[in-house]
Amino acid sequence: MKIEILSLIPGVFADVFDESILGAAKRSGLIDITIHNFRDFGEGRHKTVDDAPFGGGPGMLLKPGPLVSAIRNLRDSGPIAPVIGLTPQGVPLTQNMAKELACHERLILVCGRYEGFDERILPAFDVQISIGDYVLTGGEFAAMVIVDAVSRMIPGTVGCEASVKEDSFYDGALDHPQFTRPATWEKSSVPSVLLDGHHAKIIAWRRGEALARTAAKRPDHFRRLPLSQDDRGLLQTAFCPQSESNEIRRKIKV
Ligand SMILES: C[S@@+](CC[C@H](N)C(=O)[O-])C[C@H]1O[C@@H](n2cnc3c(N)ncnc32)[C@H](O)[C@@H]1O
Repeated sequence: MKIEILSLIPGVFADVFDESILGAAKRSGLIDITIHNFRDFGEGRHKTVDDAPFGGGPGMLLKPGPLVSAIRNLRDSGPIAPVIGLTPQGVPLTQNMAKELACHERLILVCGRYEGFDERILPAFDVQISIGDYVLTGGEFAAMVIVDAVSRMIPGTVGCEASVKEDSFYDGALDHPQFTRPATWEKSSVPSVLLDGHHAKIIAWRRGEALARTAAKRPDHFRRLPLSQDDRGLLQTAFCPQSESNEIRRKIKV
């Protein structure tokens, strides 16, 4: 996948994609990331890209001319690609969105700065994405989050693909509890089912715990989970201290 990022401060991305899993994915050619400085499309001698808002108010806004020229230039320079505008007013990023974006051959991510985009820039975006209900100083960290979340959905990026599928949100539920050595630490012991080597029992225990903790921690996701008859049985035996709300009790019929 080719990922192109439009930013006013490309230096922020130095090395960030070169380490660990993303670095390996780059080296093996699974992802190819290019950062473009849209100041190259700025106006006049000073390459201006921003100006004060009409009507007054604090800060500066990104002007439509330079940024839209940069977007058009990129659109025309390679395979068809969704142009993603990064803004706190966009659709909140989800795992399903990351999966969907990972199917594209190419992505273009546009990082805002200052007070954000002149409204007339917005039609140049195919989609506007937010990484959460808070405001960052610029879209660069949002772009990094999207690149990371999308890249690990590309087959081959993460060594063990089964682990990706067990991660939180992949199928809607949170990940199950995990333990490593030692089996007992500070009087706290690993659940015995994990030590017995009975594969089917381990799978069932993990599914029950994953469902129970989703009910407890993320009832919004739990409500949308399709539960099988087996799931309902597992939930009744799983440790689920906070799943006392009537709605959840009704769903698992406890
Ligand atoms: C200071 S913000 C502008 C916020 C804008 N005035 C508003 O309230 O909607 C500057 C830039 O940071 C980026 N940004 C800030 N928060 C973000 C978020 N939660 N998700 C994605 N991008 C964000 C956007 O590119 C935005 O244009």
